[in-house]
Amino acid sequence: MKLATLVSLATLLSSVLSAPLVAQRQNGAPDAATITQLAPPLGFHSGVNPTGTGDCDGAIDGADGKPIKIPCSCPPAQDVYISQLIANVQAGKALNNPTVSVTFPTTDSKADKSARLNAASVTLQNLNGPGKGCPVVSTTFPLQQKAIDAGTDVVSTQSNLAVNQPAPADAQGNSTGVLDVGTIESLAPALGFQSGINPTGTGDCDGAVNGADGKPIKIPCACPPPQDVYINALVKNVQAGIAVNNPSVKVTFPTDNSNQSQSARITAALITLQNLNGSGKGCPAVSTTLLARQKALGA
Ligand SMILES: *[C@@H]1O[C@H](CO)[C@@H](O)[C@H](O)[C@H]1NC(C)=O
Ligand SMILES: *[C@@H]1O[C@H](CO)[C@@H](O)[C@H](O)[C@H]1NC(C)=O
Ligand SMILES: *[C@@H]1O[C@H](CO)[C@@H](O)[C@H](O)[C@H]1NC(C)=O
Repeated sequence: MKLATLVSLATLLSSVLSAPLVAQRQNGAPDAATITQLAPPLGFHSGVNPTGTGDCDGAIDGADGKPIKIPCSCPPAQDVYISQLIANVQAGKALNNPTVSVTFPTTDSKADKSARLNAASVTLQNLNGPGKGCPVVSTTFPLQQKAIDAGTDVVSTQSNLAVNQPAPADAQGNSTGVLDVGTIESLAPALGFQSGINPTGTGDCDGAVNGADGKPIKIPCACPPPQDVYINALVKNVQAGIAVNNPSVKVTFPTDNSNQSQSARITAALITLQNLNGSGKGCPAVSTTLLARQKALGA
């Protein structure tokens, strides 16, 4: 996870939330909607590069430049994170570790943002019991803290994108920055081919493109993926601005009709397919007709 990625996303997502809601419950804790809105984004998702022994890559690189390993179940699903955060904030303590107090102040000050990150960190670290949960390096919280300290943060740096969420909206309810699922789905380049053609019996099938010998290039029979799998993966990547399974690869998805933008959307689709099940693990371009269409666009 590169800081540069966060910074460029930061630019994209500026002014996501101008004034935080200040609705308060009777005991002084904010209401659930306010907590949901101001919850620091996890910024990462579980299951990246499993080692086979229960460990996966975390969101943060260690001193050796490689992602610090985390349990593959971390970070938790967005709904689990949010519901536990709400419960802890409204109780004023970590319910699974009651000696740890939890506050969730709502202004845009550095101190309040840091306190909210602390509330989120405590929630994750005690998700399943006292000290039993997910490490902060399973999220981008450490990077968010650095950005807060440096004054370079925006409210939503990397967004909770690994999960489908409504796009952030401005005061008029207009979308700001992150594309919504419907827009991405409607502009997703068609794969143009289907899986399972002429299986050889060894897992290979015909691809969409002929090789130099005039015969279809072989592809894994699981390729291309079903449309819903493709769209879900594309949405995650576009909303994150990166290939979530290969975070050093940027994903852009411009929405206008120019040849250049159509071509960029095809690139986003190809990156998504090629990293569908892990870094470099997925479906080859020749399992679709995307390359030919990109060539025709001349961009
Ligand atoms: C919000 O969207 C409406 C139409 O959907 C548009 O008329 C209005 O100018 C937009 N507001 C802002 C602040 O962009
Ligand atoms: C990706 O992983 C899923 C679930 O393990 C599997 O069903 C699918 O065939 C895989 N797709 C590719 C292209 O490897
Ligand atoms: C734009 O793409 C179309 C195909 O969709 C192609 O016919 C046209 O030549 C392209 N324009 C440019 C300037 O390359």
